Amino acid sequence: MSETNDTAIYRIEDGIAWVSFNRPEKRNCMSPTLNRRMGEILDELEFRDDFGVLVLKGEGAAWSAGMDLKEYFRETEAKGLGATRQAQRDSYGWWRRLRWYQKPTIAMVNGWCFGGGYGPLYSCDLAIAADEARFALSEINWGILPGGGATKVVVDLMPLRDAMYHAMTGELIDGQKAAAWRLVNESVPLAQLEDRVTALARVLLEKNPVALKATKDAIRRVKEMTYDNAEDFLVRAQEAANSFDNDGRKEGIRQFIDEKSYRPGLGAYDKTRVHA
Ligand code: COA
Repeated sequence: MSETNDTAIYRIEDGIAWVSFNRPEKRNCMSPTLNRRMGEILDELEFRDDFGVLVLKGEGAAWSAGMDLKEYFRETEAKGLGATRQAQRDSYGWWRRLRWYQKPTIAMVNGWCFGGGYGPLYSCDLAIAADEARFALSEINWGILPGGGATKVVVDLMPLRDAMYHAMTGELIDGQKAAAWRLVNESVPLAQLEDRVTALARVLLEKNPVALKATKDAIRRVKEMTYDNAEDFLVRAQEAANSFDNDGRKEGIRQFIDEKSYRPGLGAYDKTRVHA
């Protein structure tokens, strides 16, 4: 691709990859260019070993104002069905990559979060918002249904009455209400947001990465299974994880049972000594 594309950017610091929507002047709405760049960044980063947690944030006053009404909808539709489907593949594609990402992911919702933004919001494993952030399914305000997965996101995450109210009114809610409605895990004052997200990332960085990947995938998979199917899936999933990291699991047992150096109920084993 020949275009200069800094619509999404990243930096890696102390084991955390900070990936940003970077169109602050457009409130970080998602154009086809941005969606392609996000896909490339996820590809570039996924198996690097210089970080263990990915945080998705927005530059400026927005997290993301959803799909770009001009570039994603109007201009793409004007080019015909092929271009529309391509734009959908590019956006849904990086959200799907993120849902099943190798590393744990946290959405750090610093500001506006609208419509299509619920796709990547849901794709992140965890989400922390600023009290000052504002969320809405604004689609109803400009005359469409919440597509691109947004309807599914609110039905998956929220109680039905709240999901219905949210989608039908298009009203803004703040970070605290988003937490009460379970769109995000919690909400803190904007001034504390980065510290809170960093602290959460540090908790994850202490865990066994193979177990984290297996766990986050299992949570999403079993949500749609019967109990018996889930029970069976989880046996297989743990056995598959063992083939990547049986030593870590054995070391976790050893440090508790033999060495008595930690208690699993109170914290993680020292994974730096896995091969000791
Ligand atoms: N699509 C296209 N352009 C958008 C956009 C979107 N989703 N959101 C913001 N922009 C553009 C504006 O057109 C404006 O462009 P300009 O400077 O060339 O005029 C620029 O970003 C700044 O937006 P503005 O509306 O002036 O900023 P604001 O701070 O006053 O308001 C919002 C911020 C997010 C409340 C407002 O931009 C908005 O309602 N955006 C649309 C949100 C939406 O419904 N998204 C759902 C899409 S599925």
